[in-house]
Amino acid sequence: MKYYITTPIYYVNDKPHIGSTYTTVAADILARAHRLRGDNTFFLTGTDENSQKSVVAAEKSGKNLDVYLNEMAAIWENTWKELGVSFDDFIRTTEERHHKAVDRFWKAVEKSGDIYKDTYERHYCVGCEDFKTDSELNKDDRCPLHPNKDLDLVQEENYFFKASAYKDDILQLFHNHQNFIQPPKRLNEIRSYVKNGFADFSISREAKKVTCGIPVPGDDSQRIYVWFDALINYMSAVGYGTDDELFKKWWPANLHLVGKDIIKFHCALWPAMIMSAAKNDPLLQNDDGSPKLPEQIFAHGFFTIEGQKMSKSLGNVIDPLELAKEYPFDAIRYFFFREIGFGNDGNFDRARIAERYQSDLANTLGNLLNRAVNMSRKYFDGKVPLVSLDSQIHKLSDSSWGDVEAVETLWQQVDEYYKTARIDLALEAIWNGEGASLILANRLVEETKPFKLIKEDPEKTALVLYTLLEFCRNVAWMIEPVMPKISADIIKQLGQNPNIIHQTKFTDLKKWGGLEPGSDLPEPKILFPRLGE
Ligand code: MSP
Repeated sequence: MKYYITTPIYYVNDKPHIGSTYTTVAADILARAHRLRGDNTFFLTGTDENSQKSVVAAEKSGKNLDVYLNEMAAIWENTWKELGVSFDDFIRTTEERHHKAVDRFWKAVEKSGDIYKDTYERHYCVGCEDFKTDSELNKDDRCPLHPNKDLDLVQEENYFFKASAYKDDILQLFHNHQNFIQPPKRLNEIRSYVKNGFADFSISREAKKVTCGIPVPGDDSQRIYVWFDALINYMSAVGYGTDDELFKKWWPANLHLVGKDIIKFHCALWPAMIMSAAKNDPLLQNDDGSPKLPEQIFAHGFFTIEGQKMSKSLGNVIDPLELAKEYPFDAIRYFFFREIGFGNDGNFDRARIAERYQSDLANTLGNLLNRAVNMSRKYFDGKVPLVSLDSQIHKLSDSSWGDVEAVETLWQQVDEYYKTARIDLALEAIWNGEGASLILANRLVEETKPFKLIKEDPEKTALVLYTLLEFCRNVAWMIEPVMPKISADIIKQLGQNPNIIHQTKFTDLKKWGGLEPGSDLPEPKILFPRLGE
């Protein structure tokens, strides 16, 4: 199975903050989950550079535009690298490969008769990089998302895209593919936007008025509208316009992950653009001639910072690299997806991070591993207790702990949740599920008291401790997508090499009994040291 996942490409007028980090980490988690299950995975992120915002920011910094763009793109790419994000490619819209893709795409749309010239006068918000109708503005005629920015009044003759011609097809698409947009509340939002809005709109600007952008093929006096160019990045990175075979391998994308602020572009404009181009480009057609559309768009919510909107003027914008100095980054990743239902809005709150760090991570996960390893080493000669793998665990049925099947069920749930991007529910099940979970494993220690039991029933103690260790091994793999470093630490503390992932099939990895009875257990280390230590 192939899996192609993308993040939005980010504007470079500023460096990454925790909003963009949230999206990028979510995509990283899903990419890792797919790699873990053996899918051939391609994870794309990048930068959206042909924007008026870049020009303004470059001017402000006193730098030449190209120099500014190169510096900023490097900051974005390096930030993700430093944070351990496992992207496979980083696309910049100023790259040659992207220009080739845009050129091919524009020509296909033009050939379909969906591009025409028109003169108009409208308000433009550089913050949104979007035209605004009167009904979209606040009472004081300002953009609700960027009330501090003056709107530009644009009076030009530009090229227009016949979006309206695709209104019915788009609505039909929503009807036929209920999963096209997730979560469902976003589908409803977009459906009403398409029904009531979605008119033709300008897809170019006069070159003399904007200092950036890709020239319209055949008309150097016009530059392509930034969103029309940006969306095509998802194709240019996988060879559209440069490498047909590569493109056939990866396209269509399986998931475009976006924030709720940009669904209009991804869920309506983008499919309409593809429907149009596909009419005249066989590469964009399925065998039956239908357009090759992305499989799904998932829109997550926005979060506030300690209850307030994140904004430069409030001074509460958080740099992810700074944050990663305060807490282990895996703990932040855990917090993001345990605290906020994926798809909902949420709040970033340091006190809650500290609470979750202490209770969920240190006390529940870290402690369990530490106790299991320490007791096994103490009572079983520094080794994983010797138990017979066939007979075990059923004998523990007098406790609230389920049996091997409960762990298998947990795996199925976790797998399904990752597949449907419900990262929050995967974590909830691992920590708090029924039958087998971290909470129940801790309860098993309290109920069976291995430190007393060892004197009365060493055989049962061996069984309890093996169960705990083997459950920790399973959990390590379940949480690997969310906490890759912690996962590797757990595996090492169990005496195994995390690289076994490369030689082991997913089905074998999650089979009960992967921890060999009698194998050596190294000296344990504290998984989650006290914060500040
Ligand atoms: N360049 C366009 C996207 C083009 S994709 C073809 C763009 N860029 S952006 O830099 O403004 O990034 C927007 C994205 O950043 C949002 O969709 C969301 O994924 C993320 N976030 C920005 N602020 C955020 C929060 N406060 N909370 C969560 N996500 C946030 O739009």
